[in-house]
Amino acid sequence: MSKDMRYITFALAKGRLAKKTLDLLAKIGITCEEMKDKETRKLIFVNEELKLKFFLAKAPDVPTYVEYGAADIGVVGKDTLLEEGRRAYEVLDLGFGKCRMCVCGPESAAELLKHHEMIRVASKYPRIAKDYFYNKKHQTVDIIKLNGSVELGPIVGLSDVIVDIVETGSTLKENGLKVLEEICPLSARMIVNQVSMKMEADRIKELIYRLREYL
Ligand code: PRP
Repeated sequence: MSKDMRYITFALAKGRLAKKTLDLLAKIGITCEEMKDKETRKLIFVNEELKLKFFLAKAPDVPTYVEYGAADIGVVGKDTLLEEGRRAYEVLDLGFGKCRMCVCGPESAAELLKHHEMIRVASKYPRIAKDYFYNKKHQTVDIIKLNGSVELGPIVGLSDVIVDIVETGSTLKENGLKVLEEICPLSARMIVNQVSMKMEADRIKELIYRLREYL
């Protein structure tokens, strides 16, 4: 490896996805010892040998770092990509973090989705919710942005339905809610900055090729 090779920087969405991404990268021989130290408060980790850097960010910020080129590569859920609408190449479906974006609510709310009624929709994903109701269903709705525990919406009377991620369905079940409509399937994706894709074409394409081969 040449001495003046520049670093390729990865932005990973904090949490489950980051862990699975590091496991996947390890499978193709890319590791980062520094990152395994659970106690560390460091934000950025380096693999000097391979000239790679890694940092962890809040999921919605990952596409932002990649669009601006602060990270060359990002790994984040498709939900976040749809919601943030940032410019980047989506190059790989990593196959983990599989779940569905759905309209959910009490059984009784099913009727409200049939007649273009003005209803209240709570979601952590206002853009996805708006696109689905306005452009796909042609139903004018009132969208209320929440930051988590969205299932509370219909339970406490804030909204008629929610637009949220369903993985196992147990959160819905334990709260007396159901999937009423499916919006789209989701999973973890790898994204690449548009300039990096050209400037570092060889190294990035090699990485994509090896991951694709492994997947
Ligand atoms: C997500 C999502 C649901 C739950 C779905 O929440 O918003 O609440 O997971 O998973 P399940 O179908 O397997 O029950 P998350 O844990 O990310 O936290 P949040 O509610 O704060 O968004």
